[in-house]
Amino acid sequence: MIKQLEVVRREHLKEKPDMATLGFGTVFTDYMLSMDYNPEQGWHNAVILPYQNIELSPAAQVLHYGQAVFEGMKAYRTGDEVRLFRPEENFRRMNQSNARLNMPEVDIDFMVDTLKQLVTLEKDWIPTGEGQSLYIRPFVIATEAYLGVRAATHYKLLIILSPVGAYYGSDHLLATKIYVEDEYVRAVRGGVGFAKVAGNYAASLMAQTRATELGYDQVLWLDGVEQRYVEEVGSMNIFFVIDGTVVTPELNGSILPGITRKSILELAQHLGYPVEERRISIDDVFEASQAGTLQEIFGSGTAAVIAPVGSVKYKDQELVVNNGQAGLVTLDLYNHYTGIQNGTEKDPFGWCVKL
Ligand code: COI
Repeated sequence: MIKQLEVVRREHLKEKPDMATLGFGTVFTDYMLSMDYNPEQGWHNAVILPYQNIELSPAAQVLHYGQAVFEGMKAYRTGDEVRLFRPEENFRRMNQSNARLNMPEVDIDFMVDTLKQLVTLEKDWIPTGEGQSLYIRPFVIATEAYLGVRAATHYKLLIILSPVGAYYGSDHLLATKIYVEDEYVRAVRGGVGFAKVAGNYAASLMAQTRATELGYDQVLWLDGVEQRYVEEVGSMNIFFVIDGTVVTPELNGSILPGITRKSILELAQHLGYPVEERRISIDDVFEASQAGTLQEIFGSGTAAVIAPVGSVKYKDQELVVNNGQAGLVTLDLYNHYTGIQNGTEKDPFGWCVKL
């Protein structure tokens, strides 16, 4: 395992965009990290280099059999102070995803140190406006040129950085409209639903396109066996506030173990909210709505942060949550969560890693 990092400087830095109008995932910084794997050297050739296109054989296995894993994390800046949020958790999850796709694991401490160096170099790219951050996208792809179906021998890990604002629309707290998918499924137990692999997202796109065409923001996936139990939304985990309790579907092998999900469970308990991780059916959700006990719904994810859900459409029924507005529990969690990330609030959990 390599322990050193080379830095190749670029001659001219890019012009920074107007940070006031940032959306999500369209602007990339000056530098990226690249690292290669082969069976003889393990991970090697770690280098920070100018952001650029990569060269890939048309026979690279990622292009044919989809060995591709990614992560999403963020860096925040207040004045000169820069923080990463739980970076070791992301590399731990990357290793779980890598293992599931028969790809080599990474050294978590080395990756966190390397990321710190990359983000330090790029700290002027971290936007500081309300709801803004530097989105960090580590990913691993199979690069071996071979058309036989087996685990590749050669891989590339890259980390690219993108200054971002809200994922949905112009504001993290704009309520989203959710469409419950009742034809396709996202994942099945024993499959790769728990892993952050590119194929899960590819398989979700047809339903997402249909939902978008019908005027909804995101798809809510049901379990792959009975199509009855709530699993997750396309880009986030999901939470319900029912009778004062913060409820989220329990992890079952087909739901992504979100780091924001885990953090919200810890934060909600810390703030005194009862929390439950349990199976919850879509019928339970509509029944709770009819009974008046469904108070709020929100999604959670690195990109989405905490995103209120304003309505849910399932077959021929549609429910509106909290008059289509962010609820009090959602706002409370959002304020504390982003306060910890931005450094305006104490971090009782030790989540933030300062550069
Ligand atoms: C994230 O929240 O970081 C994600 O990976 C979700 C999405 C942008 C794919």
